[in-house]
Amino acid sequence: MLTDAQIIERIKTLKKVKNAVILAHNYSLGEIQDIADFCGDSLELSIKAAETTADMIIFCGVRFMAETAKILSPDKKVVLPVSTAGCDMADMVDLEKVRRMKQENPGLYVVAYVNTTAETKTECDICVTSGNALNVVKNLPQDREILFLPDRNLGSFCAAQLGRVMKLYEGYCPVHNRFTVSMIEKRKKEYPNAEVLIHPEAPADVVALADHALSTGKILSHVKNSDKKEFIIATELGILHRLEKENPDKRFILISPEAVCPHMKLARLQDLLRAMEEETEEIVLSREICEKAVVPIRRMLEFKS
Ligand code: 13P
Ligand code: SF4
Repeated sequence: MLTDAQIIERIKTLKKVKNAVILAHNYSLGEIQDIADFCGDSLELSIKAAETTADMIIFCGVRFMAETAKILSPDKKVVLPVSTAGCDMADMVDLEKVRRMKQENPGLYVVAYVNTTAETKTECDICVTSGNALNVVKNLPQDREILFLPDRNLGSFCAAQLGRVMKLYEGYCPVHNRFTVSMIEKRKKEYPNAEVLIHPEAPADVVALADHALSTGKILSHVKNSDKKEFIIATELGILHRLEKENPDKRFILISPEAVCPHMKLARLQDLLRAMEEETEEIVLSREICEKAVVPIRRMLEFKS
């Protein structure tokens, strides 16, 4: 059995030998975040994936994120260390459902949260992430009816903020959708001076009680630039790793100890080493899917967040 230190050494060597880059989402395990070349939110990770000069991208996150990396860098090998790391929300919609909605509502402009499969993206007009959704939706054509999918919570957040009526698909993130008004109220009572930062995948009535609704990357930059000392964090627990590491003088209170995305916790150090040795599971997408799915992603990346 290798020790963690030996595993880390091997990963570092393999990274050089194979000219690989390790990208990790802010919810992945701390041990993974610590060895990654870059940690970030979905938008930051897509930008990195598009820019990297490495031959191989090892993506420690969930499948739709690794697929986005493959779509943006189709000639690179993209590896997802644990093949079952999916996203429950992304799996709530599929290509056929989007096609049917478009047939039933001709003229729809389809906005896809990036938490969708590559195949679903091929039928969508533009992607958004939680980091840029407001800015992207604000700039969409006014004469088209928008269908926002799959996250009804992020969709209703955008609709409310922008005062724009949109059709919302009934998908949600099981982790964030579980947050309630009473959870926030309880934490606020316990920590009256804390600022409340929430991810917009939470239900609208809960988001309404927060000081700011932000992507994971923006929660990190907001805290870094804030003079405040206490924060109630209403998103997945993995974000605490960077928050605490980068802000040792600040205090973070998680909304609930149950705010855990099981998919994000699957890849451990030994899985990362095996993935680098065996180069599996490689993300394989047809040229046709890549060529179609890149259109909404590139349209999104043209916007500044
Ligand atoms: P971010 O893009 O804000 O990191 O969110 C991704 C995600 O899956 C949240 O559940
Ligand atoms: Fe998907 Fe929710 Fe997990 Fe994010 S936290 S990857 S939206 S299941």
